[in-house]
This record gives sequence, C-alpha cells and structure tokens, in this order.
Amino acid sequence: MSFHVVPATGAVLQQVLDDTFPLWGDGLSRENYGKSWTAQLKTPWGRQHLDRVALVDGPHVLSSAKRYDLSLRIDGRIRRVLGIGAVFTATAHRGRGCARELLVRMLDTAVTEGQEFAMLFSEIAPAFYERLDFVPVPLLESTLDIDQKRGGAPAMLVRSGDERDLPSIVEMSASRSAGARLALDRSEELIRFMITRKRIQSGFAPSGYRNTEFLVVEEGHQAVAYLVSTEQDGRWMIEEAGDRDPAGARLGAILQVMLARHPGERLPEIKCWWPHALVPPQLKVAAATPTQEVLMIRPLRDRILPLPPLAAAEVVYWHSDYF
Ligand SMILES: CC(C)(COP(=O)(O)OP(=O)(O)OC[C@H]1O[C@@H](n2cnc3c(N)ncnc32)[C@H](O)[C@@H]1OP(=O)(O)O)[C@@H](O)C(=O)NCCC(=O)NCCS
Repeated sequence: MSFHVVPATGAVLQQVLDDTFPLWGDGLSRENYGKSWTAQLKTPWGRQHLDRVALVDGPHVLSSAKRYDLSLRIDGRIRRVLGIGAVFTATAHRGRGCARELLVRMLDTAVTEGQEFAMLFSEIAPAFYERLDFVPVPLLESTLDIDQKRGGAPAMLVRSGDERDLPSIVEMSASRSAGARLALDRSEELIRFMITRKRIQSGFAPSGYRNTEFLVVEEGHQAVAYLVSTEQDGRWMIEEAGDRDPAGARLGAILQVMLARHPGERLPEIKCWWPHALVPPQLKVAAATPTQEVLMIRPLRDRILPLPPLAAAEVVYWHSDYF
C-alpha cells in the first residue's frame, strides 16, 4: 500500500463530505453542508488559514481532517499552532492505523511549516490522542442564571452588530484574555471568520432550526459591549461576548434584554464557555462542568517545551473558538 496525504479538493473533497455528513451535518442538507464548507474557505481568514487534507491509497480516501493555522498565546508568548479538526476514517478502513498515520504526517508537516504546537478537540475518549502525546487542557461549560429584570428590559439600546464593531471587539477580546495563560490570539479577521461561520451554519439550516444573533451596545458610536449567541432546541450558547468595562454590567444587560424579548413561557437554558474572571452583576454561574469535547494540546518541535499544568480558570476559550 502507498499512502499519500493530499489536499481534499475536487472528487476527494466530495468523498470526504459524503463520508462525514451523516456525523457532522448538524441539521444541514448534504448540499448545504458542502456549501457551508466552501463559504468558510471564501472568507479572508478561511482562505489563508483553513483547509482539509486526506490520506489516500490510490483512488481510496481513507482518512481526512481539517487544518487550522492558529495563533495561541501561551504564558504570554504568541505561538503558531496547528489546529486539527474533523478527524475521520471511512468506516471500511477503520482500525488499521489510518487516522494515526494521517495525524503523524500532519504533525510532521506542521513542524516543517514552523508551527510550534498542535491542538484539537477530542470527541472520543482522549486515550487515542494521548498516545500521540497530546495532553488535555481543562475547559468548563457553564450554565448561566440571569437575574431577569422585573418590570421590563433595561433601558438600553441594543442593536445588531456589524463590520464597524470589529475593531472594538478585537480590543475587548484582547483585554479579556490578557490575564489568561492560554487563549487564542484573536485578530479582526479571525473574529470576523468566527462570527461568519456561525451565521453560515445557522443560515444554511432549515428555517427556525438554529438562529445566530450578534448584538452590540454602543456609546459614542463605538461598541462597548457585545454578544454572539446561537439558539437551538430551546438552548442558547453564548458563542463569545465582551464588555469594555471589566465589571461587565452592559453585557449582563444585553442578556436581560434578550430574555425580556423571549416570548416563550419556558426560559432557555443558557450555556457558555464563560471566562472565570468575567462576572456581570446580573448573572450567576449556576453550574460548570467539563466540556464534552476535550481540548488537547502538544508541543511540536521541542518535546521539552514547558507545558505546565493549567487550571480551567487560567484559560479563556470561547465556544466561537471551538473548531
Ligand atoms: C476515531 C477515528 C478517526 C479513528 O480512525 P481509525 O483510522 O480507525 O484510527 P486508527 O486505526 O489510527 O486507531 C484506532 C484507535 O482509535 C481509537 N478509537 C476509534 N474510535 C474510537 C472511539 N469511538 N472512542 C475512543 N477511541 C476510539 C481507539 O483507540 C482505536 O484503537 P483500537 O483499534 O486499538 O481500539 C474513526 O473511528 C472515526 O472516523 N470515527 C468517527 C469520527 C470521529 O469520532 N472522529 C474523532 C473526532 S475527535
């Protein structure tokens, strides 16, 4: 057998999409699942930082994965990181080391390309990735309780966010993660990509299936607080959020406005990968449990690069940043 790693384009891409769609279609039609991938690659960030590769044996597509070229701040230093997503082996080829072979080759290429760490989210028991020297990073999913303002929504203008808000969001994002030991280095293009991707995934789903909102509070023509949230099955996932004021009161008020607008009797369950230090007065973290998908990381070039144990409170990682 002669295995090769090739870019997943053309017929190889169609095979990969056919194979992965039943698992990761997430409410989309097969056609829109393909369109959603193409649309992500057409964004300025996606064009330069995202692709998919496949391990092939002649005409057979054995395994595939997504590659993200990310920047991560670890203990104050910016590191280039290979993000690995959607590792998949076609059913007929499982259990023969194909996924492992693809990952080993991707890690080798990453070293050649100057990346210093590799990172992924494991949807399976982490032992498979631990055998490739990945270690888990603690990450919590919080359930939020919002103090619903009795007597109506706060008197505050909340509008849809757009392009002009991004520079302020970059600043909010940077100051929020400044004290963290591990956080993505979120450029304007990356944030635009993250928000666009959520909108694509909601927009391509059947009407009413999933809805993404991007809301902003502005003062003096500048966004001073924002929130991106996706609603599905009566559950809100706060994808990312920020407030110029460290106390976060305007961010809490956005949530109160959203709840005041919420028509149903039953309040939504509100989830978030909430940064430990962000505690708007209007909300309480009712529960926090480890995320279902386990964030894992390993150094690439230098096995002794220090990766001291991290606590969940030292990590700022939004659900938007999940790949
Ligand atoms: C996980 C997956 C990519 C492994 O592909 P593969 O080519 O069979 O992997 P390899 O042959 O290199 O390694 C097999 C090992 O994968 C691990 N593995 C496979 N499926 C697993 C699962 N559901 N849970 C935990 N570990 C699993 C096992 O450690 C297995 O070793 P074993 O055969 O000794 O039990 C494949 O099963 C798959 O595509 N699953 C569906 C998609 C998925 O869950 N991807 C992972 C996303 S993080």
